[in-house]
Amino acid sequence: MRAKELRQKYLEFFQTKKHIIVPSASLVPENDPTTLFTGSGMQPMIAYLMGEKHPLGKRITDSQKSFRSGDIEEVGDNRHTTFFEMLGNWSLGDYFKKEQLSWMFEFLTKIIRLDPKNIYVTVFRGDENLKIPRDNESVGIWKELFKSVGVEAKDVDFVEKNGMQGGKIFYYPVEKNWWSRAGVPDKMPIGEPGGPDSEMFWDFGEERKIHENSPWKNEPCHPNCDCGRFLEIGNNVFMEYIKTEKGFEFLKQKNVDFGGGLERILAALNNNPDIFLTDIFSQGIKKLEDLSGKKYVGNEEAFRVILDHLRATTFLIGDGVLPSNKDQGYFARRLVRRAVRFAHRLGIKNNFCGDVAKIFIEEYKSEYVNLGVEEEKIVAELEREEDKFRSTLGKGLKHYKLAVEAGKFEIIPGEITFNLYQTYGFPIEIVEELAKEDGKKINREEFDEELKKHQDLSRTASEGKFKGGLADHSEKTTQYHTVAHLMLAGLRKVLGKNVHQKGSNITEERIRFDFSYPEKMAEEQKKAVEDFVNVAIKSKTEVVMEEMTPEEAKNSGAEGEFGHKYGDRVKVYSIGEYSREICGGPHIKNTLEIKGIFKIKKEESSSAGVRRIKAVVEQLNKNE
Ligand code: SER
Repeated sequence: MRAKELRQKYLEFFQTKKHIIVPSASLVPENDPTTLFTGSGMQPMIAYLMGEKHPLGKRITDSQKSFRSGDIEEVGDNRHTTFFEMLGNWSLGDYFKKEQLSWMFEFLTKIIRLDPKNIYVTVFRGDENLKIPRDNESVGIWKELFKSVGVEAKDVDFVEKNGMQGGKIFYYPVEKNWWSRAGVPDKMPIGEPGGPDSEMFWDFGEERKIHENSPWKNEPCHPNCDCGRFLEIGNNVFMEYIKTEKGFEFLKQKNVDFGGGLERILAALNNNPDIFLTDIFSQGIKKLEDLSGKKYVGNEEAFRVILDHLRATTFLIGDGVLPSNKDQGYFARRLVRRAVRFAHRLGIKNNFCGDVAKIFIEEYKSEYVNLGVEEEKIVAELEREEDKFRSTLGKGLKHYKLAVEAGKFEIIPGEITFNLYQTYGFPIEIVEELAKEDGKKINREEFDEELKKHQDLSRTASEGKFKGGLADHSEKTTQYHTVAHLMLAGLRKVLGKNVHQKGSNITEERIRFDFSYPEKMAEEQKKAVEDFVNVAIKSKTEVVMEEMTPEEAKNSGAEGEFGHKYGDRVKVYSIGEYSREICGGPHIKNTLEIKGIFKIKKEESSSAGVRRIKAVVEQLNKNE
């Protein structure tokens, strides 16, 4: 089966179960300051899982673009990618376990015809400390489902080294069968939603126990052991809890969050665990074989790294992430440069990234329309980044070799790693990888000290931020979200109607806002925008939300990205006569909640034709 067909079958199946299909959200989360990328289908749904009403109802389905930067170095084996598509369906306080598991089973075994004999499932074992019981309900449902197709499904407790025990349904502890954005319950901050889950695995057969580094290689394995025999193809999360000071309490509503990797389900359908042998990558493999004169077989690692990284950057640039030294851009840079290094190793000496991107754009543009629209930009940005790195790559590799050999270093000192970074544009992770290939290490602390000396902390800061992980709907952030609407309205008033939002990143400390405008703003213009926003703040105006079709929203004068795929219904937030904008929310109820004075702290260029503002609301002194 082709990826396109699987995606369509899944979405249409859930449509028959009364779900509304929504387009994928951007890989760059909006108004979520604590994470750099959308890494799962549920991230854009958080507000709705917490009880905010979704304008399209209680049953939603989609295929969400996802990017996990933590997996960059894992790429190279047969199943890891940084970018993937997550098929998702959501019950937002509607159906629960019975419907979800039955539909999933129907989809897997009837619609796409996976053999139930090779499907294994896991459930939450229960946890006394958390006072959350064993998920007997799911076990009962799974048993009935397997029975209906003539498969006996024995439930067994996972016991290390006991292997399969003739089981079909496995109870695992909280480390394996609990899902939240932060991971296990201990790691969850107060206010974070989560719940027990039930995962589904595909069995490729005993002979697939091939992962060299798996501790289970020579042991009896089990569905969750990661020896290569089993592959997780989907996760049903029963998101009904919220962490509070007193422990876990029920959320306002019982939700289902299902996520399944499109590529992984395809691998199960092919009964081949190498996800790079699905149709998504076939043209790319052919291209690399032509360019390098080498075959995929025998060069799997390099082919996989190049294809994964260039697919990811194609999507990232499509969502506005340009290679740079900061935040999201740093990951795009790392990916392109790592792909180019592996291509260099394969003997591909000329620029090729743009050509590979074109193949992926062709594959995906009917589903992700922005890729087609942005094709020229994506190809140009990749070529620019590739040119930049190729101009120093050879020299940098020489420098590395000479410097390391000269000093006979086993641990490569900070001066060298920093030079490779600074002079030759080698991301430190690439230097680390080079060292590893030579059986050496780098001294990361010394590198960081050098970096600090050069007062370039932006990259390390962005990594820290990424690890931080969680969305924050604190009052201050919500206030700033409303202020951002006022600011956009102000900018459009002062600079004209060609101004549109191009991106935003809001933290408790500040608003960062990108908008289309060709030149630097004059002082007077900035002051005028500040005045507009401050007047609106002082006016104590109510913030009102209405739901309507995108057409009605447009006709009513609401600001929005009309080139973009909206669902059938959108939310429009109005702040009196000041602002009217399409937005998912949440917002404050009245501008009187904004305590302080709005100030533009910085106005600078972001990229061609796009300006960036950093702004804050400064607290009033008591005696002012
Ligand atoms: N949130 C779950 C996951 O990402 C299921 O969608 O695995």
